[in-house]
Amino acid sequence: MKRVLVIGIGTGDPAHLTMEAIDALQRVDVVFVVDKGEDVADLTRVREEIVRRSTDASRCRIVTITDARRDRTAAAYEKAVDAWHDERARRYAAAIDAELDADGVGAFLVWGDPSLYDSTLRVLERAGRVVTTPFEHTVVPGLSSLQLLAARHRLVLNDVGQAVLVTTGRLLAQQGFPAAVDDVVVMLDGGAAWRHVDQDLEIYWGANLGTADEAVVAGRLADVAPEIERQRAAVRERRGWVLDIYLLRRRSPTP
Ligand SMILES: C[S@@+](CC[C@H](N)C(=O)[O-])C[C@H]1O[C@@H](n2cnc3c(N)ncnc32)[C@H](O)[C@@H]1O
Repeated sequence: MKRVLVIGIGTGDPAHLTMEAIDALQRVDVVFVVDKGEDVADLTRVREEIVRRSTDASRCRIVTITDARRDRTAAAYEKAVDAWHDERARRYAAAIDAELDADGVGAFLVWGDPSLYDSTLRVLERAGRVVTTPFEHTVVPGLSSLQLLAARHRLVLNDVGQAVLVTTGRLLAQQGFPAAVDDVVVMLDGGAAWRHVDQDLEIYWGANLGTADEAVVAGRLADVAPEIERQRAAVRERRGWVLDIYLLRRRSPTP
């Protein structure tokens, strides 16, 4: 049976690839690289570098799948994402049908870990419903930006026995800091959603973690927000892209 591996590759540093991921990459016949367009060309290069270092070039082919365009103008967000995932599933299915032999092994490389804000697994499940020949898929976990953030700030993300919420910049800006938790990790923040919350919260921020341009800042929001904005602009300027993640923590009252 055809097999597809979904391999988490960490967030930019090839040294963060796990032994399991390297092992898996050495067994694949085809790596499917999803081309998401010019704005993330540098990230695509990082992926290609990992493939070059970790695969057996004599047996592994790289096949590019041009990603479907997402309608960012659509008012109904979920509906637009759904239609986009359908089109991506058709493209993934066509590539798997065309490029993998009956017992071939393919791989999709996923930034960080596939379990966190990544649609590869959802799209592959849909692709499984439209392929001509069925395939089974397996996940090889990777180091996510969440883990890197915690490591860089030497953080335990939760308070003892308490919950942590992982959310997006869009939701934080819309809904504010939730009342029910004290620790909130924010990802996918295209703006600066921390401007919409109580400036007395603690922030532990990291950008382009695992790359040469990594930046980290921590402190009370009111004190460090200008420094974060300065560093974020500087990273974007140097590298051409910036990906950031942060923990917002409600400070315990001073005893
Ligand atoms: C589409 S999600 C992918 C998350 C990924 N699957 C993971 O496990 O980290 C992209 C978001 O992840 C975070 N992210 C990814 N790489 C990062 C990095 N190197 N440094 C900081 N944040 C990163 C950012 O919040 C970014 O907006």
